[in-house]
Amino acid sequence: MSGEDSNSALSTQDPALTLRLAVLLSGRGSNFLSIHNAITSGTLKGEIVCVISNRPGVPGIVRARELGLPAHEIDHKAHPSRLDHESEVLRVLREAKPDYIVLAGYMRLLSSSFIDEWRHRIINIHPSLLPAFPGVDAQKQALDYGVKISGCTVHFVDENLDAGPILVQRSVEVRGDDTAETLSARILEQEHQAYVEALVKLAESRFRIEGRRVIFDAAR
Ligand code: GRF
Repeated sequence: MSGEDSNSALSTQDPALTLRLAVLLSGRGSNFLSIHNAITSGTLKGEIVCVISNRPGVPGIVRARELGLPAHEIDHKAHPSRLDHESEVLRVLREAKPDYIVLAGYMRLLSSSFIDEWRHRIINIHPSLLPAFPGVDAQKQALDYGVKISGCTVHFVDENLDAGPILVQRSVEVRGDDTAETLSARILEQEHQAYVEALVKLAESRFRIEGRRVIFDAAR
């Protein structure tokens, strides 16, 4: 974003436009489906312009194809290096021209040049209230730590793991009889709503970033 310092950025999106979304996933794809449902029901003014999976045959990419969406299986194991795989992902993304790249259970780290090219246009969801419990098995980390409240976080992706500016958070109470599975299931329900909420905000409002804070103007 030329002409702006790194701690202050303005949305380049015209809030009146339909959001063009690229979804990257590696597995089940329930967040992807929740976003797709929000679009088809009219809750979210958007269009899924491509779905990319680094794992062939996973439920998320199978469903994307069944729904008639442009679905790309780009197997990381079929590429000689991480960067080689990523350049193929980038090729598809540049062709699809999304406004935002939505990571929905995408289990690959992105290079810093990838993140730089799409600064403040890559969004991720994480199943904890960040900055608590980044990384894998966040729900189990929360349970083992003994927190009474956990939840989920939708955030922009930056060079650090699960650390970019926060768009939306939702909390979930941790119960005495919770297991990692039961807590994960209740957090997942909130994830589906939080991701849609974040995308609706991006579709309907302008935002600016001051330091770490994402500030939305009132919806028009
Ligand atoms: C979700 O728990 C998300 O928070 C995490 O990966 C999981 C993906 O689930 N990043 P799904 O594939 O969207 O069902």
